Amino acid sequence: MSRQPELQEQVYSEIKDINVYDPESLTEAKLLNHCLNETLRLTPSLYFFPRKATADTWLKLDDTRKIMIPKGTTIRLDIWNANRNEFFWGKDVSGYPADAYVPARWDVLASEGISRRNLTHFGFGLGARVCPGQFLGQLEVGLVVGAFIKVFQFKAVNKATGARAGVTTKPDDGTLIDLELR
Ligand code: HEM
Repeated sequence: MSRQPELQEQVYSEIKDINVYDPESLTEAKLLNHCLNETLRLTPSLYFFPRKATADTWLKLDDTRKIMIPKGTTIRLDIWNANRNEFFWGKDVSGYPADAYVPARWDVLASEGISRRNLTHFGFGLGARVCPGQFLGQLEVGLVVGAFIKVFQFKAVNKATGARAGVTTKPDDGTLIDLELR
């Protein structure tokens, strides 16, 4: 967001009058939520999930083929690439290329009646082990980022910052930004 000053100002004008950071007022902050969704999609905190097959498991592919995962095999679910898969997230579905940071795609998806649950978005995992703290997490992040934008204007120090793979995804430069009080 810091590399897009206009976007930062749009989020600011949306939240500047929010004084109570409760779930209702944060739900109203649509652009802020779109930015957070888009950020989690492109830079998921957990960029792969390890899994171990507890039984011989057949997976059906899109065509007629099947893959057998033998019991005991450890596999890694590739969240990083699933979240930027052109088939699920690309122009035909969301109006924008899958690997571009475009918060507005969430408006397009909503207008088509498509929610994150319909897509391969694993920001909070999916299925039986989905994150039980998802809504608390979203509330906390909305609260912190919202309050931050309300108080500061900020600019990234570096033109581009890659993602560093650790246990979780982190910005390569540790998030170097210039801050100015509004
Ligand atoms: C933005 C914040 C958060 C993100 C991005 C996040 C992400 C995730 C992801 C991706 C998983 C699934 C891991 C997997 O399938 O292997 C997970 C699981 C989990 N999360 Fe979160 N989480 C967040 C906040 C929280 C909070 C606030 C709590 C608790 C208060 C929490 C508690 C858990 C627990 C207990 C699991 C394990 C669930 C299980 O294995 O059955 N998370 N989280």
